[in-house]
Amino acid sequence: MNKLCLLGLLVSLASQSAFAAAPAEPLKNKDAFIANLMKQMTEDEKIGQLRLISIGPEMPRELIRKEIAAGRIGGTFNSITRDENRPMQDAAMRGRLKIPMFFAYDVIHGHRTIFPISLGLAASWDMDAIAKVGRTSAVEAAADGIDMTFAPMVDIARDPRWGRTSEGFGEDTYLVSRISRVMVESFQGQSPANADSIMAAVKHFALYGAVEGGRDYNTVDMSPAKMYNDYLPPYRAAIDAGAGGVMVALNSINGVPATSNTWLMNDLLRKEWGFKGVTVSDHGAIGELIRHGVAKDGTEAAKLAIKAGIDLSMNDSLYGEDLPKLLKSGDVSQTDLDNAVREILGAKYDMGLFKDPYVRIGVASEDPADTYADSRLHREAARDVARRSLVLLENRNQTLPLKKAGTIALVGPLADAPIDMMGSWAAAGRPHQSVTVREGLRRALGDQAKVIYAKGSNVTGDKAIVDYLNFLNFDAPEIVDDPRPAAVMIAEAVKAAKQSDVVVAVVGESRGMSHESSSRTTLEIPASQRELIKALKATGKPLVLVLMNGRPLALAWEREQADAILETWFSGTEGGNAIADVLFGDYNPSGKLAITFPRSVGQIPMYYNHLRIGRPFTPGKPGNYTSQYFEEPNGPLYPFGYGLSYSDFSLSNLSLSSKTLKKGQTLDASIQVKNTGKHDGETVVQLYVQDVAASMSRPVQELKNFQKVMLKAGEERTLHFSISEEELKFWNNQLQFAAEPGDFNILIGLDSQAVQQQTFELL
Ligand code: BGC
Repeated sequence: MNKLCLLGLLVSLASQSAFAAAPAEPLKNKDAFIANLMKQMTEDEKIGQLRLISIGPEMPRELIRKEIAAGRIGGTFNSITRDENRPMQDAAMRGRLKIPMFFAYDVIHGHRTIFPISLGLAASWDMDAIAKVGRTSAVEAAADGIDMTFAPMVDIARDPRWGRTSEGFGEDTYLVSRISRVMVESFQGQSPANADSIMAAVKHFALYGAVEGGRDYNTVDMSPAKMYNDYLPPYRAAIDAGAGGVMVALNSINGVPATSNTWLMNDLLRKEWGFKGVTVSDHGAIGELIRHGVAKDGTEAAKLAIKAGIDLSMNDSLYGEDLPKLLKSGDVSQTDLDNAVREILGAKYDMGLFKDPYVRIGVASEDPADTYADSRLHREAARDVARRSLVLLENRNQTLPLKKAGTIALVGPLADAPIDMMGSWAAAGRPHQSVTVREGLRRALGDQAKVIYAKGSNVTGDKAIVDYLNFLNFDAPEIVDDPRPAAVMIAEAVKAAKQSDVVVAVVGESRGMSHESSSRTTLEIPASQRELIKALKATGKPLVLVLMNGRPLALAWEREQADAILETWFSGTEGGNAIADVLFGDYNPSGKLAITFPRSVGQIPMYYNHLRIGRPFTPGKPGNYTSQYFEEPNGPLYPFGYGLSYSDFSLSNLSLSSKTLKKGQTLDASIQVKNTGKHDGETVVQLYVQDVAASMSRPVQELKNFQKVMLKAGEERTLHFSISEEELKFWNNQLQFAAEPGDFNILIGLDSQAVQQQTFELL
């Protein structure tokens, strides 16, 4: 045993035994243990626990350790290796009460292995695949000494101008709630205390996705019924699944910032939903209460936040600076402080840290020899999940799958873009470890076909945008512009196209364009790339667009140019391989959109489950005095739930087991689904409900269930869906949650528009 490893072992043993000796209460009684510990804590030590700091250049390591040992820091985020975290835990173990630190990080769609962005994961409609993402992320993050993730992000997004649309799971309450549950369960495993689990802190509570105009950090104004029916259920699903933490949103809700919102954190979260875990403010949000205009200074901001129920303060100094005087003046009571401390210690307890502060950090002798080693990645899982997230939007004349023969022109600014492959919030992912589309094609083809690569254009020709996006990334420039004139780059791509049998153009957004603080006023592919597409189309060669983007794009023009379009989001470490699998037919695409693609930005908001209205637009009928825009076709370009396959699927014989449903009983809806194509493949059969006449207007349709089925070519199967009163309940304007007797339509389809319908009555 070398010196280092002996030291590690001694520290670990010492800390465990020392810790076990400190409080008189046995560890197995959580409440008594924490109560006893709190009795021993000074006011300063209690306030210290509320402080969550970001590890960064502005905080020298020495200072951090001193602060930790003095009991002035409860946890950190952004330190992501065992050997970074171990000295901090050691410092905590040198503290008077040896209260362990915890280490958090934004593990959103993978940790070292990067999976598709969340919007792509949702497009898989595959709960097993999503569970694999959560579990793999937890295993990898825990192995790096991380105890908590600020995820899942389950904000419903219905305005794609919002850059954080990429980070969530789309527009639909039911689908996002299902995923929310799966993510929490797979992050936390059997218990968040396990060595290979991390605690989930669901975010951003609440309604962040509804910021006005899709402009980040903007206000949210919403009726209670809409909140309860559409926006709150995904957070609730995470809480019900046992999420140990909640991150509070940066926005205000009906005029009251979430960070100072007593109704939100106390009445709803704790009292109504029974949440027992820890709350954390978002980055700097307590201080922002001044700019929201609800606190006159930092002192008032700290008071409002703690009284409303913010336990941990993320990168704010205000609790530390102002709570002592607020406690002295009595503006904040000892109970207010104790409530917050109790939740934080409770979370540490639940993460298993009192039992063993080194449960995830381990001993130095077992640290990975190379933290960044490729062998630490889960490439197979990443490829499998990435393939499931891809959505085939167009495929004229069966342009896809491509033959592994002849010559392929591979063009576009995103064809060989390792950073973009990973998407935003790529945790500890390393760009050089991601497989680009160019690399994926190379590996898939070997020497069976020739690939001519040409970049063709920059992501954008707008220098101000490049500067903005590069400013967002601290480590390396996000976008490195090719200095050649646009015309030269296009000419090179056109030449490649002319020498080829088919053109594959990888276009869309750079990853930073779909990120926090990256709201857009247009949903179009930037002009530099549209020029490229125009020139490629003019060659007359079959044109396949491979899209990379983190939000719905307005693709009406592109749809006319392309023979095939494959939506790939930002598909992660193995994205290039997964995309090649689909392009060459080694995998039959099965993804379905989890968010509506509008025709233009002017149609926003456009989501499939909007409320019914008095003058709906009816396709094919005269449009006057109906709800519509007269300058372009109405309705979405690609509806929610849409996605093609290399096979064809048909639905028939929707039938209900009864025309009536009694409360407390169930009804069976069955439908036959057939693979009428030549390839085996998967599809998603979606069940929607419409309340025909209720006490208030209800959505035109709402997803209530779905089944993803694999069918061999020619295979037919009957699927059954059970319907009970539960699926028919909603929150009315008096906030009562009940199903109202009367007629309901059941709609089943392969997307939200092409549906079959039957009616029954709830008695
Ligand atoms: C984001 C959060 C994130 C936090 C810590 C904030 O800017 O809004 O989602 O968890 O930073 O990185």
